Amino acid sequence: MSEDFSKRVVDLDKQYVWHPYTEMSHYREHVDPLVIVEAAGSRLIGADGRSYIDANASWWTSVVGHNHPRLVSALRRQSETLCHAALGGIAHSPASELAEALCGVAPDGLSHVFYSDNGSTSIEVAMKLALQYWAQNGRTERTRFVALEEGYHGDTIGTTALGGVEVFRRPFSAVLLDCLYVPPAREASQLPSCLEALESVIERNADTIAGVVFESMVQGAAGMRIYDPAMLRAARELCDRHDIFLICDEVFTGYGRTGPMWACDHAGIAPDLMCVSKAFTGGVMPMAATLATDRIFDGFIGEADRAFYYGHTFCGNPLGAAVALEVLAIFEDEHILERAKPKAERIAQAFEQMRALPGVESTRSLGMIGALDLKGDSGYLAELGWRVYSEAQRRGVYLRPIGNVVYVVPSLNIPEEDLSELLSVVRDSVKSAAAR
Ligand SMILES: Cc1ncc(COP(=O)(O)O)c(C=O)c1O
Repeated sequence: MSEDFSKRVVDLDKQYVWHPYTEMSHYREHVDPLVIVEAAGSRLIGADGRSYIDANASWWTSVVGHNHPRLVSALRRQSETLCHAALGGIAHSPASELAEALCGVAPDGLSHVFYSDNGSTSIEVAMKLALQYWAQNGRTERTRFVALEEGYHGDTIGTTALGGVEVFRRPFSAVLLDCLYVPPAREASQLPSCLEALESVIERNADTIAGVVFESMVQGAAGMRIYDPAMLRAARELCDRHDIFLICDEVFTGYGRTGPMWACDHAGIAPDLMCVSKAFTGGVMPMAATLATDRIFDGFIGEADRAFYYGHTFCGNPLGAAVALEVLAIFEDEHILERAKPKAERIAQAFEQMRALPGVESTRSLGMIGALDLKGDSGYLAELGWRVYSEAQRRGVYLRPIGNVVYVVPSLNIPEEDLSELLSVVRDSVKSAAAR
C-alpha cells in the first residue's frame, strides 16, 4: 500500500473516528496508529507491508486465527442465502443448529440460548433474566448482585455496576445498580479471608440478592488476574444453599482460553446462567449468547406479561450464527483444545523465566494467557506498558498492555514458530523498555 493510502486512513481517522478507551487529544497528537489492511492466522498485516503477531487476538476474539478459511467460507455461504431475518416469530437453521451445538458443549444443565450482540449485552441479558425471574416468582426484593472487586463485565450501565475497574465506573457511579463486592483470592494465603467475605456477604444479604456474577477464573480487564477456583466452588455452594443464581461470565475465558472449554470447569461447577461472546464467532462477527437452565426458562412461562421483553435487532443473526457453528466444528475437527496444551506450557515457562528480568514485578499464566506486571505505577492509566508496546511494535508484535500489565492471549492455534517469535519479542521488549 502507498504512503498516501496510509496517510488518508490516518487523517480521516483522526478527524472523525472516536476511539474506545482513548483520550482523543493525546491520540491525535502523539499516537501513530498501526494501519491494518489484512489479517491471517495469528498475524495482522499492516499497510506498511509488515506483519505483526497479534498477541491480543484482537481483543481476545480470534481464537482459531484470523480469517480461518472455514469461517470465511461459512460466512460467504450464509451470505448467499440469508443475511438477516428478525428472530421475532421466525426460526432459521443457523440459530437453531447453533443453539443445539452450544448446549451440547456447555456445562451441565444449560439448555436454552438467548442471543445478543456482544459481551456486555450477554451479561445484561443474564442480569435482566435474574431480576425478572425473581420479580415474577415471588421474590421482588431480590434486586442486587454480588460481584468480585476489580471485575469487568462490559460497558452498558448495568454491567458497569458490576465492574470494579475504578476509572471505568467513576463517571457513572451516581446512577449504578446496587451491588456488593467481595475480594478475589489471588494467592493461597488470601483464600480463607476471601471465602469468609463471600460467605458473609451472601449470608447477610441473601434475601436481596438476585445473582452472583463472576468472571470465571481470570479477571481479564483487571490485568489477567487469576483467582482460586475454590471461590467459584464456594459461590456455587452458597448460591445453592440460598437459592440464588450463579452467573458465570465466560466472555473472555470461554472456548479454551484458560485450558478447558469453560474456565468454570477448573472448579468442576456449572452456573445457572453463562455468558459467551468474543471467541464465540472466532472474532468474525459481533455476536453473543446467554445460556440458561430449564428452571430459569420455565420461570418466564405463563401469561403474556411473564415473557422476557428484551431483544436486540440482530438477535440470532444468521451470518454470526453460521460462523459460530463453524467455530465449534473447527474446535472438534482440529482438536483445538488438545493442541493448545503444549503451547500453554510454553507460555507458562516463558513467563516464569521472565520473572527474573529487570523491571518485572511478577508473572502469571493460565492456559493460553501469560501476563507480567512491570514495576512501578499500577492501574489502568499506568503508562509503563506502552513503552513495551512500542518496543514490541518495532519488532513486529501487537502487544497492547493494560496499564503496567504486559500480556499475551494469542490464537489457540498459533503456529509454533509464531509463538516462539512472540515470546522472545515479549522478553526482548520488556528488557529494552526496562533499560530506557
Ligand atoms: C469478562 C468480560 N465480560 C464482558 C465483556 C464485554 O464484552 P464486549 O466488549 O463485547 O461488550 C468483556 C470485554 O472485554 C470481558 O472481558
